[in-house]
Amino acid sequence: MVHIGNPGMNALDQLMRLPFFPGLWSRFPIGSLETRVKYGIMSYPYYAYGAYWAAVCAQRLRVPKITVIEFGVAGGRGLVTLERVSIEIERVTGVQIDVVGFDTGEGMPAPVDYRDLPHIWNHGFYTMDQEKLRARLTKAQLVLGDVAHTTTKWLTMEHRAPIGFIAFDLDYYSSTKAAFDIFSRGHEQYLPRVHCYFDDVWCTELGCMNEHVGELLAIREFNADNPARKIAKIEQLRSNRPRWEYWQEQMYVFHDFMHPDYTTRVIPQNLQLPL
Ligand SMILES: C[S@@+](CC[C@H](N)C(=O)[O-])C[C@H]1O[C@@H](n2cnc3c(N)ncnc32)[C@H](O)[C@@H]1O
Repeated sequence: MVHIGNPGMNALDQLMRLPFFPGLWSRFPIGSLETRVKYGIMSYPYYAYGAYWAAVCAQRLRVPKITVIEFGVAGGRGLVTLERVSIEIERVTGVQIDVVGFDTGEGMPAPVDYRDLPHIWNHGFYTMDQEKLRARLTKAQLVLGDVAHTTTKWLTMEHRAPIGFIAFDLDYYSSTKAAFDIFSRGHEQYLPRVHCYFDDVWCTELGCMNEHVGELLAIREFNADNPARKIAKIEQLRSNRPRWEYWQEQMYVFHDFMHPDYTTRVIPQNLQLPL
């Protein structure tokens, strides 16, 4: 039997199957924001995915403004990208977005013990040129210092918009655990579900990543300590995406189950979900 294309696929899906096409499209990023987010045609596609869907959720819940955060900024490539895509997302969704980046400003602190994976990362890695980075940022707020102090202090600031997306890229268990203080406040400080990207839940062969160290251990401990709040991987994300992308395994969501809007419907009633 000869199959001429797949009836469930559109022309773009067919083009994306050509080995050279995703790279070519990335170099000439035409198309709507929605289409580029859907096909992952942008740098840091996982930041675009998390921030975009957070803004759509906010729009459905009639929340006018959200905050998106990067923990671990280093040279700032990620923060600059998050800032740029947030401006595009604001235009498309009408939801305003505050962008915040947390970092020591001086590179990695000393590891505390084996749980920080010093066989992979160590003191002084990833330095920041603060002046150069500030010159590239247009609206993002840079919060410098150890997250063990700065997160708590930042949370006391008034007039913050609910948090919708967080990228965790602090590498260490100890730093990630300290940054999870971000999830310790009242319901009004969050969307009911906060999209999260975890950069360090995998490593190369010699890293031997596992759930007893690093970010995965911090997540496991957070879940054990919090009965009504959980950080959980988005299951079967591949089913919603036109192709497999490695970062689909790195997308999690912070669920605030007792949030007054957790049960508010955000998916249109007439949408036909696959059974
Ligand atoms: C891998 S780099 C981040 C890279 C960045 N997200 C990007 O995509 O360009 C990790 C960063 O985490 C920061 N970091 C680690 N532990 C920290 C802590 N306890 N407090 C503040 N920053 C920390 C380091 O300074 C370093 O710049």
